[in-house]
Amino acid sequence: MTSRRPLTGAFIALEGGDGAGKSTQLEMLAAALRRRGLVDTAGRPDLVLTREPGGTQVGQEIRQTLLHGGEVAPVAEALLYAADRAQHVAAVVLPALERGAVVLTDRYLDSSIAYQVEGRGLTEAQVRGMNAYATGGLLPHLTVLLDIDPKEAALRQAASGGPLDRMERAGLGFHQRVNARYRSLMAADPERYAVVNAAQPPEVVHSQVLASVMAILADLGLAELPGSARRGKHARPAGARVAVAAAAGHAAAAGVTGPAAQAGAGQPGQGLGSGGRRVAQ
Ligand SMILES: Nc1ncnc2c1ncn2[C@@H]1O[C@H](COP(=O)(O)OP(=O)(O)OP(=O)(O)O)[C@@H](O)[C@H]1O
Ligand SMILES: [Mg+2]
Repeated sequence: MTSRRPLTGAFIALEGGDGAGKSTQLEMLAAALRRRGLVDTAGRPDLVLTREPGGTQVGQEIRQTLLHGGEVAPVAEALLYAADRAQHVAAVVLPALERGAVVLTDRYLDSSIAYQVEGRGLTEAQVRGMNAYATGGLLPHLTVLLDIDPKEAALRQAASGGPLDRMERAGLGFHQRVNARYRSLMAADPERYAVVNAAQPPEVVHSQVLASVMAILADLGLAELPGSARRGKHARPAGARVAVAAAAGHAAAAGVTGPAAQAGAGQPGQGLGSGGRRVAQ
């Protein structure tokens, strides 16, 4: 791989089963960060909202194939998701992190692990292997898991008149296994996750998501928490910045489990400068 500039931004993923509230929370989180004045050094907003699959032009074609095409063999399906992710990382995520942006993505690697392992019979090692190649090992600084009983999520989708076809096709048992897999991924690596009870009202979920994100941004030197001596540990001369202190309070007070509640979380890994962690998988 050619040498790249240091990654001075922050990479945050929202994960959870179908109907957990990812899209809802991503919008609320983005609005809150904008209100707090997240800007680049030239004063422009520097917040990137994106999603998988389909965060790029190529990705939209892959998404169309995956979600609306015919039968796809399990390995082919996993490779298509990895291809979407490879393009997403190369064309959207890395350039944004290099210029110091905050990147919020609706789904990332853990979706592939949860769905491809539980639904398609691949091993976790196989899914991790193909995705390590696809992404160069890039992991988010923080992954927020919106944790909800799939039954509850299905009721929500039914109430909103949303499509139940995927839920119905795959069955409740599958979605329960996906959720259990998400939980075990979190338990195995608590440093890079925050788990939020997504069965709560949207505003409550939002305040907990925001608190965990603000804590990571503070750790990365991209934000300051109110009334706190906690400052970024890393010099961020070119990064985006949340200029106005957060009103959300400290994550530990907001009932979030995971890194947001721990001092020293969100430290970047080795390899590619000080941004999204690149970790061998
Ligand atoms: N905390 C909440 N309480 C009640 N309803 C909610 C909550 N969060 C979201 N909803 C509603 O539940 C439905 C699903 O939410 P949303 O589309 O945000 O989930 P999602 O995780 O993005 O789903 P998908 O995986 O299908 O994209 C929507 O109708 C939304 O308005
Ligand atoms: Mg959604």
